[in-house]
Amino acid sequence: MKDKLIIFDTTLRDGEQSPGASMTREEKIRVAKQLAKMRVDVIEAGFPAASPGDFKAVQAIAGAIRGSVVCALARANSRDIEKAAEAVRPAEASRIHTFIATSEIHMREKLRMKPDEVLRRAADAVKLARTHTDDVEFSPEDAGRSDPDFLCRIIETAIDAGAGTINIPDTVGYNLPAQFGALLAELMERVPNSDKAVFSVHCHNDLGLAVANSLAAVMAGARQVECTINGLGERAGNAALEEIVMAVRTRRDQFSCDSGIDTAQIVPASRLVSGITGFPVQPNKAVVGVNAFAHEAGIHQDGVIKARETYEIMRAEDVGWSANRIVLGKHSGRNAFTERLKFLGFQFDSDEQLERAFARFKQLADNKHEIFDDDLQALVTDSDAAGARARFALKHLKTTSQTGAVAGASVTVEVDGEEVTAQGRGNGAVDAVFSAIESVVGSGSLLQLYSVNAITSGSDAQGEVGVRLERDGRVVNGHGADLDIVIASGKAYVNALNKLYDNEERAHPQLARAV
Ligand code: KIV
Ligand code: ZN
Repeated sequence: MKDKLIIFDTTLRDGEQSPGASMTREEKIRVAKQLAKMRVDVIEAGFPAASPGDFKAVQAIAGAIRGSVVCALARANSRDIEKAAEAVRPAEASRIHTFIATSEIHMREKLRMKPDEVLRRAADAVKLARTHTDDVEFSPEDAGRSDPDFLCRIIETAIDAGAGTINIPDTVGYNLPAQFGALLAELMERVPNSDKAVFSVHCHNDLGLAVANSLAAVMAGARQVECTINGLGERAGNAALEEIVMAVRTRRDQFSCDSGIDTAQIVPASRLVSGITGFPVQPNKAVVGVNAFAHEAGIHQDGVIKARETYEIMRAEDVGWSANRIVLGKHSGRNAFTERLKFLGFQFDSDEQLERAFARFKQLADNKHEIFDDDLQALVTDSDAAGARARFALKHLKTTSQTGAVAGASVTVEVDGEEVTAQGRGNGAVDAVFSAIESVVGSGSLLQLYSVNAITSGSDAQGEVGVRLERDGRVVNGHGADLDIVIASGKAYVNALNKLYDNEERAHPQLARAV
């Protein structure tokens, strides 16, 4: 009988801290539902003390999710812990995750605290969290660069105070696999009450070692891994959930534990997160990249045809790669539409949301013969269809472009319910559209990134456009899909503006000095 490996997903907290990866509340709820469907054990839903928006998002997820523990992050202070406790109260099962830095450099430069004060704060934080829930996790931040003697002391103190999970973060991605595995083994061996807690790891990918370090720790006895979909996260990201889960499953001969993840939900989760954040998945990314199961070399193709195990160690269908089937057309009804979306992991929250999405589907089906799964996913990823409370909406767009001349655009944008029309000129139709929208909204933001991707093959494929805007250090991603890439670009720009103006001040868990 194998041990259970607890999968703790932090896409909605650490993943969302990635510059530009911010998600709206509705988007976070959709990701959380997909994570629960995938049977993730613990969903870290956010950092409620960061802003009122983060608080409400965690609270909404806690109310919406069944089957997974909903966790909130809190620094080791009473305000953060009270906020976290209140936010996760509606959850069927809740956890509070509190942390404080323990490396010399963090204690001296960031916290400006002596080790004994850090120790006291950790104990007080865990005890306070325990007054709200029996499920408390403690992390000594930057453990990967902390003195093991001090780590042993603080871990013992946290367990005595009531922490049931001890998470060891390699916050800056500095460790090497053998070293990190040895650290876990040492801590579990030396901390006298270590048998009273589950040991967890949280590895960042600065040296590309997050997954290797996490797996080394699992081999040394860790039984929870903190990870994110597509490896999203601060800087170079966190350990990728799909890689951890599939490594442990595929090499079950090497591991004495396994996760309870429904692996067929991995690719849908990857696509959902990528679509919402606008962070593309590199084609050669393990497990979820489009080339992960593609065999180009003739010798490989020949082998796979004869016996797939010659070159494949996993089956594409086991991680959710399904043939991108033609599923619907213009004669398909509401029922077929909702059923197929349900199969793809999307459920409508209200009849109004369904009607809006169905109308968009009919519009698309009038112009596009065959509607694929990817088309449907793009349709509901569009925040319009998901029913986000949008401040701006693109109502009308017309462009003129010809060889050797400046392009022009006319747009009508609804701003807080009122329609405003403006013209723009630019180097090409897309530039003209952006300039026309800017003259309506006047955001003063900088365009940092513009990308176009064909959702399916064929010249009648929908174009999916990603737009990244930056203003005063705040970075947002917008996306839009349409058969016409100029219209898709206008939608993506407006989508990004809606995020830019949904502008609640947020604290960053690791940068704030006052704990
Ligand atoms: O990287 C880190 O140390 C964290 C902690 C809050 C666990 O994200
Ligand atoms: Zn982290």
